Amino acid sequence: MRIRKFKKEDAKNVSNVIRRCLKEVVIKEYSEKVIKSLCDFFTPSAIISNSNNRVIFVAAEKGKVIGTASLKGDTIFTVFVDPKIHRKGVGSKLMDKVEELAKKRGYKTVKVPSSFGAFEFYKRRGYKKVKINHAKVKNHADTIEMKKRLVKY
Ligand SMILES: CC(C)(COP(=O)(O)OP(=O)(O)OC[C@H]1O[C@@H](n2cnc3c(N)ncnc32)[C@H](O)[C@@H]1OP(=O)(O)O)[C@@H](O)C(=O)NCCC(=O)NCCS
Repeated sequence: MRIRKFKKEDAKNVSNVIRRCLKEVVIKEYSEKVIKSLCDFFTPSAIISNSNNRVIFVAAEKGKVIGTASLKGDTIFTVFVDPKIHRKGVGSKLMDKVEELAKKRGYKTVKVPSSFGAFEFYKRRGYKKVKINHAKVKNHADTIEMKKRLVKY
C-alpha cells in the first residue's frame, strides 16, 4: 500500500470510497437525510474542486484507491477508508501523512471535525475533544471538534 498525492483521475474512485463508507458505516451514526446530503456533496467534481484549496492524499493498493485524507490549513478533513479493509492500519498511515505535512508547514496543533464513529480512532492517536460543532449547512453532519498537539511545548 502506498500513500500518495491525489490526481484528478482519482476523483471518481475517491468519491466511490467516500460514498460507500457513508452508506455502509457512517449511516450507523447519522440520519438517512444527512447521509444522502453528504453523498450528494462528495461528487468527483467537488473533490477536484476541493483539491485546489487543500492537499488531498490517497491510499492506493495495486493502483486501486482504498482511502483518502486531506489537510486544509491546520484542519484535517475527509478521512475515509474502504469499509472492506477497516482496522488494518490504512487510516493510521493516512493520518501519519497529513500530520507530517501539517508539522512541516509549521503548525503546532491540528484539528479534525470527527464523525461520532471515528472518535475512538482519533482519541487513540492523541486527539482531545474540544466541542461539538453543529452543522452549518442543512442536513450536514454534527461533528466533534478534536485537536492534537504535534510538537512539544
Ligand atoms: C475512521 C476510519 C478512517 C479509520 O480507518 P482504519 O483504517 O479502519 O483505522 P486503523 O486500522 O488505522 O485504526 C487504528 C486504531 O484506531 C482505533 N479504531 C479505528 N476504528 C475504530 C472504531 N471503529 N472503533 C474503535 N476504535 C477504532 C483502534 O484502536 C485501531 O487499532 P486496532 O484496530 O489495532 O484496535 C475508518 O473507520 C472510516 O473510514 N470510517 C468511516 C468514515 C469516517 O467516519 N471518517 C472520519 C470522518 S471525520
